[in-house]
Amino acid sequence: MLATMGALGLAPTAEAAGREPAFSAPRTGDFTLTGKGAARVVIVGGGIAGLAVAYELGKAGYDCTVLEARDRTGGRNFTVRGGDTNLDLSGNRQTARFSDGQYLNAGPARIPQWMVTMDYCRELGVPVEVFTNVNASAYIYNEKAGMTAPVRYRTAKADVYGYVSELLAKATDTGALDAELSAEDRERLLEFLKGFGDIGGTLRYEGSERRGYRVDPAASGTPGVELGAVPSASEVFASGVGRYFSFEFGYDQAMLMFQPVGGMDRIPAALTRAIGAHRIRTGAAVQRITDTAHGVSVTYTEHGRVRTLDADYCVAALPPNILARTAHNLGADVQTALEACKPSSAGKIGLEYRSRWWESDHRIYGGITETDLDLAHVWYPSYGHHGRRGLIVGYYNTGAQADAYARLTPREREARAVAQGVKIHGEKYRTELASSFSHHWRQTPYLEASWHSLSGGPDAPVFDPLNKPAGRVYFAGDHLSYADAWQHGAFTSARKVVTALHARVLT
Ligand code: PHE
Repeated sequence: MLATMGALGLAPTAEAAGREPAFSAPRTGDFTLTGKGAARVVIVGGGIAGLAVAYELGKAGYDCTVLEARDRTGGRNFTVRGGDTNLDLSGNRQTARFSDGQYLNAGPARIPQWMVTMDYCRELGVPVEVFTNVNASAYIYNEKAGMTAPVRYRTAKADVYGYVSELLAKATDTGALDAELSAEDRERLLEFLKGFGDIGGTLRYEGSERRGYRVDPAASGTPGVELGAVPSASEVFASGVGRYFSFEFGYDQAMLMFQPVGGMDRIPAALTRAIGAHRIRTGAAVQRITDTAHGVSVTYTEHGRVRTLDADYCVAALPPNILARTAHNLGADVQTALEACKPSSAGKIGLEYRSRWWESDHRIYGGITETDLDLAHVWYPSYGHHGRRGLIVGYYNTGAQADAYARLTPREREARAVAQGVKIHGEKYRTELASSFSHHWRQTPYLEASWHSLSGGPDAPVFDPLNKPAGRVYFAGDHLSYADAWQHGAFTSARKVVTALHARVLT
């Protein structure tokens, strides 16, 4: 009724809010008077894309079967809790010894507000909470730039904004910008810079309370002691701290961000429940996909037995690098396109601590420390504040840095990550450690990629064969979207395939 009212201009619509019209899920009523009925669909891959296809088609009564090679659904959406095990392709077997309530989101871990992942959380009843992506109290540590101690984000920002403002104010004052700015513009720019950089009436940056305090302000008689030793402009730029600020300007990384309460895998768990466990076969590794004139035939192994499943349609929602090694008759152009999807690396280590020393000693509640060390980023937990224990992501790195850690044994990874983290956080980083679990996507069976890079983007001509069905086989996954490496990409790609497949079945 709301949709109808919206169309009549009597109620607000998604378009009115400046957004694209919403996806409309298939409904059983769509078949009324068409003489058509819901088809049988086999979905290869039980990650977010595959589950979303089964979930949406299920709303119209499609007979869906999901074949998942691993023993759990979710794909790269993997939350590690105590007792979870992982055997990687190099033969490293790990069992997480995290205590109750502690978890590592080894894959996706943050959700922007605008992404449809939030809509699925709402629809599926998955509670969300704020994920802190940026924290003024977190650190920046650039060892290669000669920093010997970390600086707080707030301090780095005060200094960089301060000096940039001072320099721009000087350029304005000396007339260097007269060709670009009217006298009025110049006044307004100076007004802005005074506040932006805290450079006061002198238009010079001489430090600021924004940098933080050595002794915090308190009761009368205790005005606080500001952090001293303001570095020079030259020192500030040499430290390279400013290079991290633009991260939070990105459309996909801007605060606020969110996470499901209790772990990211609440999403695939809810999808799996909604689809129905009887429709999902885990431990089912696909060997061959054959498009026949009248349907599809999918061969897979399940507990060592070879089985075949026939259906009207297939949605191939497995990683392109894996599908490229699977037998199929979908054509040379499909194979060329699959091989052009280049797998990337990423890894994480979860470090569980016996105390939340980063909260009590460092006053850091969530957020990320940025470094030029090979661990790249350190994430503090956005959940469980003031609890007894807590879990830090000791590294989240990509590319060559991730590959370097992946080559080590789990024990060696832990030792290396801790040795680096001690430089920033001190000895408690080692002494309070309870256990760790590390995970690398390039080393993970049936995935072998953290995400993929598609040269020229998903609409480059070479990828055409994946953006339309090959006979009765459709392709879905975050790699076929403009939000690769996000669940949003998987969900929207799934919706696109569902819309196309349903329209075909109806005609
Ligand atoms: N979505 C992933 C993350 O937020 C990977 C990614 C990082 C994607 C940065 C885009 C930009 O960590």
